[in-house]
Amino acid sequence: MRRALAAANWKMHGSIEAISQYCSALEVGSGPVDVAIFVPAVFLNATAGILPEGAVAGIQDIGVAETGAHTGEIAAEMAREMGAVWSIVGHSERRQDQQESDELIGQKAAAAFRGGLRPIVCVGETLEERRRGDETAVVGRQLEAVLAAVSAGDLAGGAIGYEPVWAIGTGETATPEQAQAMHAFIRSLLAEKDAEAAQQTPIVYGGSVKPENAVELFGQADIDGGLVGGASLDAGQFSAIIAAAADSA
Ligand code: PGA
Repeated sequence: MRRALAAANWKMHGSIEAISQYCSALEVGSGPVDVAIFVPAVFLNATAGILPEGAVAGIQDIGVAETGAHTGEIAAEMAREMGAVWSIVGHSERRQDQQESDELIGQKAAAAFRGGLRPIVCVGETLEERRRGDETAVVGRQLEAVLAAVSAGDLAGGAIGYEPVWAIGTGETATPEQAQAMHAFIRSLLAEKDAEAAQQTPIVYGGSVKPENAVELFGQADIDGGLVGGASLDAGQFSAIIAAAADSA
């Protein structure tokens, strides 16, 4: 069966000191859950060296190119050499702030696999899109662009993150039913390409996940854990979320 995944997205927060205190306090346990901590890229190497056993580091974004004249970009292979195991690609903050397109995100997912990283490919609709009833059309389009660049079989070695934009950092969480419906839809799209791979692909939910709502969210059939922002910055809260993911697996 699928392993659960608990991912901490620190976004642009942290310092060497904060990360070192966090790593001493984090309780990973030994349940059937992959634990990944996504710190700002400059802290990757330092973090990878001090994470507790059972947790690995990830990079929050990568460039498409493997090398060359691309000032400021970081290649997947470079991140891997610094200790990254995972990469987030297509986070809604990058789709918005850097105007990343669906196609570019597909290329980044392919670049992650080429460079030896496991991508968490993020998809999710805005509030306006949900109000219009377009949420499955939007998520379907975002996922199709990724499946044009990466096979469903390969994607099973990474993960999908469903993050409704209206639930990120807002304190407003999708209901377990809303999240489960979208996760089942995502899995059905994967199954159209490769039924076995669809069953193996972790699909995690993101958007105001906290210890208080994690158990019910992760208890849904197609929710395999969480991609956590705000609550992941606190070692105690994220440890509780890891435990909830492990219990649901
Ligand atoms: P949040 O962020 O948990 O603070 O809503 C989730 C994310 O953006 O990955």
